Amino acid sequence: MNKRILITGGTKGIGKAVAVCMAQSGCDLVLTYASDSAAAEETAQTIAQQYPVDVLLLKADISDYQSIDTIQQWIENKNIYLDALIFNAGLTCRDSFEDLHFDDWNRVFFANVHFPVFLLQRIVKRIRPGGSIVFTGSLMGIEAHSVSLAYGVTKSSIHALVKNLVKFLAPYQLRVNAVAPGFVDTEWQKTKPAEIRKNIENKVALGRFCEPEELAGVYKILIENNYLNGEIIVVDGAYSYK
Ligand SMILES: NC(=O)c1ccc[n+]([C@@H]2O[C@H](COP(=O)([O-])OP(=O)(O)OC[C@H]3O[C@@H](n4cnc5c(N)ncnc54)[C@H](OP(=O)(O)O)[C@@H]3O)[C@@H](O)[C@H]2O)c1
Repeated sequence: MNKRILITGGTKGIGKAVAVCMAQSGCDLVLTYASDSAAAEETAQTIAQQYPVDVLLLKADISDYQSIDTIQQWIENKNIYLDALIFNAGLTCRDSFEDLHFDDWNRVFFANVHFPVFLLQRIVKRIRPGGSIVFTGSLMGIEAHSVSLAYGVTKSSIHALVKNLVKFLAPYQLRVNAVAPGFVDTEWQKTKPAEIRKNIENKVALGRFCEPEELAGVYKILIENNYLNGEIIVVDGAYSYK
């Protein structure tokens, strides 16, 4: 029987690269996404054509509380058990401090922090003992930055959540870790103006963005190494603000 992994935001960018990497290792997949069904179908078909694994798609917006019920019920109806759960999808809000609205702040907190806590509470018994949870944190949760207050604070919270969840998940024989990427060349970054991208590249010792595929191997190690627990693995190519 293949291992089964659920990846939120698994149809594009970092999540998709992790999905491909784990399919290469023979894992069946559940990939969630927000709205782009065409891209999701294409990702699922491409992976299933290349690797002998089962790929299931589920539309579930992490900014909507109803998605917690949707995912729980879907998993139970299909009688799915997971070996790894990857909380990868995340939201940001780039409004200035002065223009920031409570509803936007709340939406980012709900999606990035509350959603994984309460989904995990609902489906923890659907993750097999020996399995693990991996969060996508961010370098921005470690180095304060000036673009999105809610994003930086929620990513810090994710890192704290990982450390705090360790003891709560030990009775279930589950490990929990996070990857904290620096700047990864996904749609999230590709849409930034050339000048800003150049500034970022100049601050990375390696002089370039990380490719999603380079990052995927870090998730694989966290899923497969049975002694990695409570870690926040920073993957930033040696980034410095100077
Ligand atoms: N890229 C970076 O430089 C970077 C750096 C550090 C951390 N991160 C973190 O990495 C994670 C993935 O980012 P990415 O760069 O791979 O993004 P991406 O390329 O834009 O991919 C986003 C994926 O997440 C899904 N998604 C977006 N909003 C969602 C929502 N509200 N509910 C459910 N799914 C949603 C998308 O589905 P649809 O296509 O249907 O919208 C898609 O599958 C995020 O948590 C982000 O904070 C990224």
